Amino acid sequence: MSADALYTDVYEKYTKYINPNLAKLMGFAGFGVEMRAEGCYIYDHEGRQFLDCLGGYGTFTFGHRNPVVIEAVKAQLDQIALSGKAFFTKQQADLAEKLAEITPGNLQFSFFCNSGAEAVEAALKLSKGATGRSKIVSSNGSYHGKTLGALATTGREKYRKKFLPLMPGVEFVDYGDIDALVAAIDDQTACVILEPVQGEGGIIVPPDGYLRAAREACDRHGALLILDEVQSGLGRTGAAFACNHEGVTPDIMTLAKAIGGGVMPLGVAVYTEDIYNKVYGENPMIHTSTFGGNPLACAAGLAALSQLTPELIENSRAMGERMLNGFKEIQSRFPAILGDVRGRGLMIGIEFTEDEVGEVAVATLMKEGVCVAYALNNPRVLRWEPPLIISAEQVDHAIAALNTAMLEVEALLAVLA
Ligand SMILES: Cc1ncc(COP(=O)(O)O)c(C=O)c1O
Repeated sequence: MSADALYTDVYEKYTKYINPNLAKLMGFAGFGVEMRAEGCYIYDHEGRQFLDCLGGYGTFTFGHRNPVVIEAVKAQLDQIALSGKAFFTKQQADLAEKLAEITPGNLQFSFFCNSGAEAVEAALKLSKGATGRSKIVSSNGSYHGKTLGALATTGREKYRKKFLPLMPGVEFVDYGDIDALVAAIDDQTACVILEPVQGEGGIIVPPDGYLRAAREACDRHGALLILDEVQSGLGRTGAAFACNHEGVTPDIMTLAKAIGGGVMPLGVAVYTEDIYNKVYGENPMIHTSTFGGNPLACAAGLAALSQLTPELIENSRAMGERMLNGFKEIQSRFPAILGDVRGRGLMIGIEFTEDEVGEVAVATLMKEGVCVAYALNNPRVLRWEPPLIISAEQVDHAIAALNTAMLEVEALLAVLA
């Protein structure tokens, strides 16, 4: 089959059987059919190479097809793939121990599942079960997933309004506003759920002291603090966990995306012994998942965590700084188009002054061999989350491509004016 015929076949099947409007959007942005991936690159049906600066929304922290993860999963496949469920699973036991070791404070028990939304669902249930309360405080612009429970805490009307009423008792406050957050937490609050850096909201880094204030207010009222590190965790922000920047320990941390090593789907909620006793004390089956903790995913998770070295985290910090500085320099030359450049480590957002510019910029960047996408809750923001193994040369390629994209957008806007 020729490259063109392959593309047409896939495009038509997406249109007929999956999601026609999404197919149109992806086609417009210039996305082809992904055929192969390695390290920081994806290769499409025409053999074109793309520097992956979207990184599967933060999934490819350790690079595409990281050899250590691939090797571990292949070896596991030859032993046992999915759990028989009645037996113990060594990989699950080892991964839970490792997570208790590397997560901050007294986070100890792991509930394994298959996605970020499922990890959030577990965290919400654990909070309600442990406190016997039902009020939940979340933030505007947040993204915690689209399953019904997680959606009830996701702060974007666009995704919620068709499905109302959702789980009751959720109150939203503006992200980063310490006073509003503290005022919303009271003796009825089961939990506060926050991303330490908002991802889909447009890469929003909260002011210093925000997570600490959340921690203190939760402690004053006996509420639990859930930190959703599904996107920001595992080195992404230049620290093992984004909450480490403020030295704050949650009662429950959710992880997904990168923890599967970019090879297997894996999610987890890591939580305290006290919560375990209150929720699972009388019934060890009160919250379960058939595929959660399966040997293949846990083997991938263990191999992934073996790659979370101080050197990799330092590379995230240093390459993040290089990218941010390069983008800021471009912003200073295109202030009418590029409104803001911000981020922490390799979790970077650039905000355009108009919604429509994002789509044009994505298409131009694709032509320049750089893959990015805009944030789900904020189409004005292009989010950059490449693998943390990215090199200085690759960062410079991304910066040069953005410069070209800005020149093209400027020329286009001049024609339209
Ligand atoms: C912070 C955060 N939480 C939860 C989710 C939901 O994860 P998933 O898409 O794996 O369900 C996402 C996905 O982008 C996320 O960024």
